[in-house]
Amino acid sequence: MNILGIETTCDETAASIVKDGTQILSNIVATQHEFHREYAGVVPEIASRRHSEVINYVIEKALKQAGSDFKKLDAIAVSYHPGLIGSLLVGVIAAKTLSYTLGIPLIGINHIEAHLYSVHFNNDIEYPVIGLIISGGHTLLITSDEIGEYTILGSTLDDAAGEAFDKVAKHLGLGYPGGPAIEYEAKKGNENAYGFPCVTLNGKFDRYNFSYSGLKNAVINQRNRFLNKGFDEKISNIAASFQKAATDVLLVKVRWAAEDIGINRIVVAGGVANNSRIRGIFKNDKTLTSYFPDPALTQDNAAMVAGLAYHKYIQGEISDLELEPKSRLEEIAKGKRKVYGS
Ligand code: KG4
Ligand code: ZN
Repeated sequence: MNILGIETTCDETAASIVKDGTQILSNIVATQHEFHREYAGVVPEIASRRHSEVINYVIEKALKQAGSDFKKLDAIAVSYHPGLIGSLLVGVIAAKTLSYTLGIPLIGINHIEAHLYSVHFNNDIEYPVIGLIISGGHTLLITSDEIGEYTILGSTLDDAAGEAFDKVAKHLGLGYPGGPAIEYEAKKGNENAYGFPCVTLNGKFDRYNFSYSGLKNAVINQRNRFLNKGFDEKISNIAASFQKAATDVLLVKVRWAAEDIGINRIVVAGGVANNSRIRGIFKNDKTLTSYFPDPALTQDNAAMVAGLAYHKYIQGEISDLELEPKSRLEEIAKGKRKVYGS
């Protein structure tokens, strides 16, 4: 079964054809980074305009790369939440139009769930697992008994992990997107130069929640203090020390969850999962078996959308033409949220 996936939640316009949920026949991603760089963040109006300019071209390219055409498609899948509403609209309208004119099913996909699915292309994963989704907009810790069944353990109380990287990078003048820029700068620095707060929140209700705004402010204050006094501090040391605090906390939380729940298989997904320090500390922890997506599939792409859609189709989860984009995460766990801890 060949599914065309469409992804326009934020600042990547992507289309991909995936066969039977596993075989990626094409994967086209048009990133908009160059259009947002001067603002050091995504400008929603620019994002939606750019999506509408390139969506047809991106879809045509995906068909061509797969050696396919519209007639060979069996279904259309699209990320319809969460994301920027104007950006989502472009993908959802394109998907509805194709579904209607080709007379094939439409499958609406949760972008966060699709990130989790991205790990399946290069790993054989036995369930249940603990899932950590770390992206520009979300930080979620979950358990999953199978694809489509999730329980939320925790999420961020303020900034998302990727958002903290982006904001700190902006403040340090390292450019956009901030994650890769911080990682690059951190490689030249000493991660023990500053003791930035690794915010672990060990209370009953926050054991699995995250908080990044205190760390972000600590880094910004550190930088300002030096600027005011005219110190010639090394940005690379600040970047490395921030990266250490921002990533160590992820392992702490996952280890707590693994011990409390008794699951040691960990799936890490989302743009921030591309970070090599995160990959390193998780892989080095021999108490855990950690799975990461192929680096090409960590950031927003449509292969994860088309791949997950195959499972939704098999489970009978088909959408209709009333499908509406939603900016917020509608649901991933059907209202389930567990509280563990003392
Ligand atoms: O999953 P994604 O492409 O988009 C969202 O769904 O948000 O994630 C983008 C986020 C950005 O915040 C970006 O700075 C971050 O992922 N990111 C990284 C790295 N590469 C991308 N953060 C840390 N280290 C990286 N190497
Ligand atoms: Zn994403």
